[in-house]
Amino acid sequence: MPVVLQAHNLSKTFVLGTEKVHALRQVSLDIQQGSFVAVMGPSGSGKSTLLNLLGLLDLPDQGEVTLAATPTRGLKDDALTLLRREKIGFIFQTFELIPTLSAEENILLTSELAGQLKQAKSRLPALADRLGLTGRLKNRPSELSGGQRQRVAIARALINHPSVILADEPTGNLDSKNGREVLEIFQQGVREEGWTVVMVTHDPAAALCAEKIIFLRDGEVVGETETHSLDARSKIEEFVGV
Ligand SMILES: Nc1ncnc2c1ncn2[C@@H]1O[C@H](COP(=O)(O)OP(=O)(O)O)[C@@H](O)[C@H]1O
Ligand SMILES: [Mg+2]
Repeated sequence: MPVVLQAHNLSKTFVLGTEKVHALRQVSLDIQQGSFVAVMGPSGSGKSTLLNLLGLLDLPDQGEVTLAATPTRGLKDDALTLLRREKIGFIFQTFELIPTLSAEENILLTSELAGQLKQAKSRLPALADRLGLTGRLKNRPSELSGGQRQRVAIARALINHPSVILADEPTGNLDSKNGREVLEIFQQGVREEGWTVVMVTHDPAAALCAEKIIFLRDGEVVGETETHSLDARSKIEEFVGV
């Protein structure tokens, strides 16, 4: 499968007062279209920074992200925003829904901003059905369970058929049943609809639902494993210590 998302030598340093934090050091990776990849690493290892750079939410100090055959270095903010809106679906641990909007309004908001409300509206019923949200679309986030909120966030990420779904600890705020449901939604989407998913997690069970795990430590890629390989669990122990 072709590479849909590529990181080349990404470095990112944050300055905190007088201290420099090297959040990422020369990280390179290729994400193949139609694959399900997990990123694991201890807290502070750079996972969220990597996801934010891959999703064009933040810019690297060095290196480059290439998304859907578009090199992004030097692109202006509005070009980055357009590319991000069109090609990336984000899912966050804390859902990040807008509390004053209904589920439906949350799901359609980006499409509205992108002038694609009509197309998105026509896709909504099937997507809502698929995610078990039919009958919940008029509710506000506060009227929904955690699992339902995350499924609204998944619908929001998917409504525009993004090239890549980036999920940062998507099961981190869910109980195990709802967490498993989210993972099954990802697996089914990858298997049956050709989604590409990059998921940050520190949960070995969640990571093992992906096809491949990339390990980060101190801002560097220190290893990777195919999850079907016999030593996947020992690799998780080795690199993450869980
Ligand atoms: N906006 C920021 N300002 C300053 N330091 C940051 C910022 N974002 C992340 N960092 C630092 O960069 C390192 C990596 O953070 P992060 O990517 O959030 O790690 P992870 O998601 O693996 O826990 C940490 O040391 C963190 O404190
Ligand atoms: Mg994080």
